[in-house]
Amino acid sequence: MRVSATTHLPLPDDAQLGAAIAEWLPAQRWFAAKHHTVGPVRIEQRFPIIDEADFCAEHLVAAVGSVRYQIPVGHRTRLAESYSDAGLPVPPGSSADAVYLPITYDGLRDPEIATLYFNGMTDGRMLGPLRFHRVDRLIPQQIRPAKAGETVPSRVLSVEQSNTSVVFGEEPAAAGEAVLIKFFRRLEPGINPDIELLSGLTRAACPHIVPLLGWLEATTGGSGPADGRCTLGMASSFVPNAADGWTMALTSVRDLLAEADLRADEVGTDFAGEAERLGAAVATVHTALAETFGVEDLPVAEAITPRLRAGLHSALAVVPQIEEYRTAIIAAYADADSVGTAAAHRIHGDLHLGQVLRSPQRWLLVDFEGEPMRPLAERRAPDSPLRDVAGMLRSFDYAGHQGLGDPSLPNAAQRRFRASEWVDRNTSAFGAGYAGAGNRDPNAHAALLRAYLLDKAVYEAAYEARNRPDWLHLPLRAIAELAKG
Ligand SMILES: Nc1ncnc2c1ncn2[C@@H]1O[C@H](COP(=O)(O)OP(=O)(O)O)[C@@H](O)[C@H]1O
Ligand SMILES: [Mg+2]
Repeated sequence: MRVSATTHLPLPDDAQLGAAIAEWLPAQRWFAAKHHTVGPVRIEQRFPIIDEADFCAEHLVAAVGSVRYQIPVGHRTRLAESYSDAGLPVPPGSSADAVYLPITYDGLRDPEIATLYFNGMTDGRMLGPLRFHRVDRLIPQQIRPAKAGETVPSRVLSVEQSNTSVVFGEEPAAAGEAVLIKFFRRLEPGINPDIELLSGLTRAACPHIVPLLGWLEATTGGSGPADGRCTLGMASSFVPNAADGWTMALTSVRDLLAEADLRADEVGTDFAGEAERLGAAVATVHTALAETFGVEDLPVAEAITPRLRAGLHSALAVVPQIEEYRTAIIAAYADADSVGTAAAHRIHGDLHLGQVLRSPQRWLLVDFEGEPMRPLAERRAPDSPLRDVAGMLRSFDYAGHQGLGDPSLPNAAQRRFRASEWVDRNTSAFGAGYAGAGNRDPNAHAALLRAYLLDKAVYEAAYEARNRPDWLHLPLRAIAELAKG
């Protein structure tokens, strides 16, 4: 904590902060229920991390119902230009001095506040009840805590994500120079799978991940079942000059559709070589996960397909269009059952093109948290690596078909055909890369792979029906295809 003589700044009380956060949350890109109004927000924890005459910062844990969020905030009378849009709408209080309240704002946008976390991560100190852990031998030489009074340049990554990542260091950075701290927004007690798996993969020197540098944890709440130590953040190297897989794939599809006279392999941004290398990278990570965390055989009918059937059941309630394929889907799950057992180990759990980064050297898998909405115990359970393969293949299908535009356009059928060709070409390339890197060929397990593909498409249909009805046609088209067998 940075403390000067006395605090002169009056701060909003818990009720005012709660009201401000309730109004502010739905507009945050990391908030799951974007654009929905949220119920009352309770301030559960609040402690000062900077306390100066004209500048305060607090680490807040705020709860909406039973869900807890980490929200560091700052209070100043004026905001710097670079985060002048970060203010929270604090309502006036009832007390007479309410008019003198400073501006309360999103603390992670302010490099002076972010520097405190960076310093904690690099020197392993405590900050109030926050405890930092560092993977010592991995802290690069360049990364030292800032000197007293110094601020490390930082910016919040502007990507679509469910957490908030802050990059520290001068930019442009060379590899290994800048640090990225991902602040988990939604707090959950217990082991964080991202840190658990990345620790193991870092120790195993797996080349297709970004090594873990450290993490940050604290104890939240009281002594109830939902209370306890939980992870607030994790640090890794920032990978400069990287492109994310989704953007690369979309560029490739767009160029192919724009060049009606060229074959896929003649288009400059053909993705097949990358898809093959990506398949090899995923297989390498799977091998490392299996070696580090162990493998077991799961009976498909008892341990895998019940969850697929439950998923189908709940999706049917949201997307009546799936009804027509119900019999075929159930038959596909029964086919998977007849496989008997499947080799299972810890997997990525939420693999898609948006979770892979292409550095100048190689593909890197990021974000090992698993599907954010699933309970922790489920996310940590071993599963067939084919679930990850299916996730990536569904992502190829989305990339291929999402930009097709109006189906009534004169060349719509041709565009659809070329998009499907792109998907098939890259699906094969990915499978070849995966099989070639020593793992088993995913196509040798067609029944189980098809069951996972259907499961994913059914899940997507329910998601799209709720959140993006304009995209519902994408998973429905896939379900129709897959149901044909
Ligand atoms: N170490 C890194 N270096 C550079 N960019 C990264 C790094 N880690 C993640 N990213 C980028 O940030 C995005 C979000 O990261 P991710 O870990 O998936 O966060 P979330 O848990 O919020 O989804 C990724 O898709 C990737 O584009
Ligand atoms: Mg992610």
